[in-house]
Amino acid sequence: MKVIHLSVECFPIAKVGGLADVVGALPKYQRKLGIDASVVMPYYNRPFVTENALLNIYEGSFSQGDEILAYTVWKEQYDTLGFPVYLIYIEGKLDRPEVYCYPDEAEQWIAFQHAFLDWIVNTDNKPDLINCHDHHVGLVPFLIKYAYSFQSLAGIKTVFTVHNGQYQGWLSWDKAHLLPSFDGYHGGLLDWDGVINPMATALKCCDRYTTVSEGYLEELFVEANGLQDLFKHERAKAIGIVNGIDVEFWDPAIDQLLPLNYTSTTVKKGKEQNKKIFCEKVGLPFDIPLLSYIGRFAFEKGADLLPELIREMYSLNENKIAIFILGSGDDIIQGEIANIIQLYPNQVSVFFGYNESLAHEVYAASDMLIMPSRVEPCGLNQLYALQYGTIPIVRNIGGLKDTVIDIDHDNGYGFVFEELDIKNISLTINRAISVFNIPKSLESIRGKAMKLDFSWDKSAKKYVALYNQLLK
Ligand code: GLC
Repeated sequence: MKVIHLSVECFPIAKVGGLADVVGALPKYQRKLGIDASVVMPYYNRPFVTENALLNIYEGSFSQGDEILAYTVWKEQYDTLGFPVYLIYIEGKLDRPEVYCYPDEAEQWIAFQHAFLDWIVNTDNKPDLINCHDHHVGLVPFLIKYAYSFQSLAGIKTVFTVHNGQYQGWLSWDKAHLLPSFDGYHGGLLDWDGVINPMATALKCCDRYTTVSEGYLEELFVEANGLQDLFKHERAKAIGIVNGIDVEFWDPAIDQLLPLNYTSTTVKKGKEQNKKIFCEKVGLPFDIPLLSYIGRFAFEKGADLLPELIREMYSLNENKIAIFILGSGDDIIQGEIANIIQLYPNQVSVFFGYNESLAHEVYAASDMLIMPSRVEPCGLNQLYALQYGTIPIVRNIGGLKDTVIDIDHDNGYGFVFEELDIKNISLTINRAISVFNIPKSLESIRGKAMKLDFSWDKSAKKYVALYNQLLK
């Protein structure tokens, strides 16, 4: 079975969020199950393309509006990521350093999808199934059915994976002329509320859609940034499959980015030493619990709550906790975080930016990780944390709800809160601190956390079962 994962992010080539981690791992685990899985993504002007050998495997061109766009498909020669990766290059559109935030994003992703289909329609080696990830590639299930040039691809099955239903890729109808020409009779499939909505199009036209946790799927039926009725209407096609983690990168026993490796039996000493080294590096005390936040500074992730939470925590617990923040994103949130740390320079430290290797050190060094998300389709950070014996403190929502059990329940190993209310969150953190101060409880909770298995092995099988169902 030949499966192509179509995505605009893939770790380590281009990562903004968890989408990249999933696309960079899932194909590898599917290949272990005998599936011929590969990734097709845009070419980015980033280190990966100069540090690896690329083979030119196809060249073509197509028109987009008034432009003729020439494209090249490059394949990374040695499958260094554990699966084949194809990069589509278009001068001036798919040759940029960043993934998002260009003013012509619509043109960029339409060009990517068009070039992909133009290439596929011209090769003999066609996939049996295309797994499209998020709205950027949401037009593909429509185009293979209704674009005149691609109708020979209509037999290819499509799975659409929703990593985040908040972003839908809206385009005004005056951009429709940029699409490959399609049968206008079916044009309504592109529409939702008077605009072209690629996420809605994908939901309507795909053979199956998946969400990155079961809990999130249920939530989308209720609230999906305007698409809840559509999610519900198409629910017969839906399945929630929780993400896994790539244990080749995320395992404290072999993680080369850590000063000291450890396992569940050496976790006490292992975390102590990693914490000591880390706290010295970032100027924090290491004899009190260390709580961290890692992630994008987005409203969705609740990052805007951090400054008030910090203020609240220190009004109650002057010297009982140290806090480390790693992330970047919204400038206003970043500014507020920058201000607050000046008030507590000895207890709070921050690194503004995206730094994968620092993230590994933070998971190993921290005692707890906070995730006050408003929306969390899956969340990978709580899974990384658990794997490193770091106790997650999370809101009871989406994928967090599916993967973290509060210690007040049988077999619990984390701390869960319901409301996004500062007092409530800080009470939950205090509950965690008190567990931390009892060495036996700490040992037991860490032991449980590290024994959980969130590796991709299990979830990759669910995707493969779904593909099999579609192709039988
Ligand atoms: C998005 C979601 C996150 C999920 C990730 C990978 O970034 O916000 O919750 O874990 O995609 O599916």
